[in-house]
Amino acid sequence: MKKFLKLIPLLLLIPTVLAGCGSSIPSENSEEIMQDSKADDAITVGFSQLGAESDWRSANTDSMLKAFGEGSGYNLIYKNGQQKQANQITAIRMFIQQEVDYIVLAPSTEDGWETVLSEAREADIPVILVDRRVNTADKNLYSCWVGSDFELEGKKMAAWIKAYTEGVGIAPEDIHIVNIQGNIGSTAQIGRTRGLANAARDNGWDLMAEVSGDFTENRGREVMAALLKRFDNINVVYCENDNMAIGAIDAIESAGRKVGSDIGNGEIMVVSFDGVNETALEYASQGKISCIAECNPLHGPRVRGLIEMLQRGEIPEKFNYVDEKLFSSVPGVDAIVVDGKTYKVERK
Ligand code: AHR
Repeated sequence: MKKFLKLIPLLLLIPTVLAGCGSSIPSENSEEIMQDSKADDAITVGFSQLGAESDWRSANTDSMLKAFGEGSGYNLIYKNGQQKQANQITAIRMFIQQEVDYIVLAPSTEDGWETVLSEAREADIPVILVDRRVNTADKNLYSCWVGSDFELEGKKMAAWIKAYTEGVGIAPEDIHIVNIQGNIGSTAQIGRTRGLANAARDNGWDLMAEVSGDFTENRGREVMAALLKRFDNINVVYCENDNMAIGAIDAIESAGRKVGSDIGNGEIMVVSFDGVNETALEYASQGKISCIAECNPLHGPRVRGLIEMLQRGEIPEKFNYVDEKLFSSVPGVDAIVVDGKTYKVERK
């Protein structure tokens, strides 16, 4: 816990940092932050965030910085991986070198973590995963994980699409869907893609294409523009996050098409995930986004709770899921059932 003192000379070398130069308030846009609590017995947390691709990610970083930043009683070393796993691996090695008390990792993708997490274990530093997961044969390479059930989110969305289209009398074979996916190999992409692909197969929908838009608005726009040139019968766009949905809507409207749930009359229905971005929420209330499956980014206090449990010598649950809702302003579906459980559809 006094280990953080070893870092202080490094502060002078750090190129980045606090938003608005001179401000002591860390920002989620910072590349690197070192927050010294000044207390001798403070716990030092090294947090490797994967990047800043979406509004969800910014809200998540903000939540983590509030939980572990100034005034929290913790020392924090925060590193933004800028969407590159190699940067995250380097950050973890730096945390190990600095002998932090805990490593918190929001991994970009699932594969490729064995070596560096083994190094953390050899150094006896507990690792907590947040948001996405890692795919390691040895689950003891990390203490626990907290985040969303991404496949359940996908299943809920598919159940809503099914209930809505059945309600308005669209035959399964007349549902022509494209999936604009998140970054390939991330838990959020894998789960949401699987949720849709299984439902398409089971219901006989025409899933025409799955293309990654990397969870960003710009890529969502580009991918949608290309899909509209490739297919003239798209009537449902499943966007694996709100930022890509905003880009996709822009592309659809720029192509002279109308966005909405009246797919029997030529509208293109857009559905998405997150429920964080203001524009997306506005679009949901206007019916431009027909349904949003919530993905909750506020993991800071949850990770803090897990660290507090570990500090008390307790063993937290290995996998800690967050409860999430489904939002739609389109009338007709009040609730959906997934795996025998009923979920209310919240009005936006
Ligand atoms: O892993 C969570 C996902 O990552 C969010 O849905 C997306 O917006 C983000 O970038």
